[in-house]
Amino acid sequence: MPEVFEKWWRKYGRIFSFKLGTKTVIVLNDINAATDLLDKRGEFYSSRPRFVVSHEILSDGKRGVSAPYGDYWKRWRKLQHMGMNGKAVLYYRDQQTLETAILLREMLANAGGHEQALRPLQRFMTSIALGIAYGRRILDLKDEMVSFNHESILEFQRANTPGKYIVETWPLLLWLPRPLQWFRPALEVLERIREKDRETYMSYFNDVKRRSKAGIAKDCMATYSLWHGGSQGMTDVDVAYALSAPFSAGVDTALPALKWSLVAAICFPEILKRIQAELDSVVGRDRMPTFDDERSLPFLCAFIKEVIRWRPVVPLGIPHATTKADVYSGYDIPKGATVFSNIDVLVKDPNLFDDPETFNPSRFLTPHKPVGNWNGKVESDFTIPFGFGRRVCPGMHVALQSAFISMARIFWAFDLLPAAEGSSIDPTKTICRGITCEPAPFQFRVRARHIDVERIIESESAEADLRLKEWEY
Ligand code: HEM
Repeated sequence: MPEVFEKWWRKYGRIFSFKLGTKTVIVLNDINAATDLLDKRGEFYSSRPRFVVSHEILSDGKRGVSAPYGDYWKRWRKLQHMGMNGKAVLYYRDQQTLETAILLREMLANAGGHEQALRPLQRFMTSIALGIAYGRRILDLKDEMVSFNHESILEFQRANTPGKYIVETWPLLLWLPRPLQWFRPALEVLERIREKDRETYMSYFNDVKRRSKAGIAKDCMATYSLWHGGSQGMTDVDVAYALSAPFSAGVDTALPALKWSLVAAICFPEILKRIQAELDSVVGRDRMPTFDDERSLPFLCAFIKEVIRWRPVVPLGIPHATTKADVYSGYDIPKGATVFSNIDVLVKDPNLFDDPETFNPSRFLTPHKPVGNWNGKVESDFTIPFGFGRRVCPGMHVALQSAFISMARIFWAFDLLPAAEGSSIDPTKTICRGITCEPAPFQFRVRARHIDVERIIESESAEADLRLKEWEY
């Protein structure tokens, strides 16, 4: 799909539209159009297209990511914001710092490189997502909470398969008396899955409630909902579903960004060397980097921004939908239109980024020129890959924080190399599933950068094992 939209953008220009059944789909390929409509006219550009089967039937309308704009979504969003705003995420730094010590130990154990070498990174990001939602960590990916959450994401995606359910195209059929609904058996399967989802999400929320009563719960989105009025106007089931968002929307987005960071470090060794020189001069070799070093590591921070620009992991964003008819630049935009922001094209716009195909972190070291009505706030606040307007990714601070501490420590500890001498990784090979894209499977190995690395990893991870017990239950 991103390639098709790119082809059409080259042919049809900055804004194009097409019909999908009875729906009008509009694609914005221009930063001014995206900010004019999705940011400035956010009041009526912030809904989602209707997902009859996956959202309304399978999820009982409870998943905020696919919820239409309105009171339910606003309450859900308030809780996401409370749990993941720029200030709240500072609380998760402790767990992130400790988890990265374990991450390095696991990477060292897989130093030779094989197809499982990326699993430590996956465990790290999954543990962080569950920490945000429930104040809980996982020791390995076989944890029941991980398999359940993966399965429910897959069910959601399967329910979205085009053409699979007739009611997706003809929702009016749901008004037929039940005995006449010949398609019902397929929907009943989904209704049973929905019951299981609801029960399981509720059991996770109830676990936190019990721990909170006992005074042993870690601060997390669930405790924000209990203690700080984060769930005003929401039922327990609404909250239980809201707590599933960091996993369902956070792991398959932040993890690909971490994978692309490794690919970039392997494919551009001179850039990795520059990051490591910065780390050596700021941090030295006697200790691991921490969040306190962040301000003194501008090149590493620029590298992370460049990674999410170079390979945006949600290349077409998540589609918005209009709740009012509108006119923009001579285009008629009907009520109920689906609106995509073509992030992949926006981050490669030569008006915004010189030589956009080149991987060049230094571009983020100097403030950008304003373009049109877009104020060019690229250096301090580069948010294009996280979407637009009222729906902008609420997890962006968590994502950036996770990327900073994991990459700072990996690059401090290791040289990253292709798995076999003389082999290479092709950074143009991408795999897309659903709305996210990640590097095609790649193999690499790591090599400790200096003699003290193993000793420091061993002692820091042993301490982390002990301190992380507070998140284990
Ligand atoms: C590099 C990592 C990430 C990227 C590039 C990313 C990107 C995006 C994008 C493009 C959207 C759609 C915004 C729109 O509709 O305009 C989105 C929505 C969302 N993201 Fe992220 N995301 C990332 C990480 C995360 C993380 C770590 C979390 C949570 C822990 C998260 C939670 C969400 C949620 C809940 C939404 C739905 C917001 C809504 O519908 O109101 N994301 N993200």
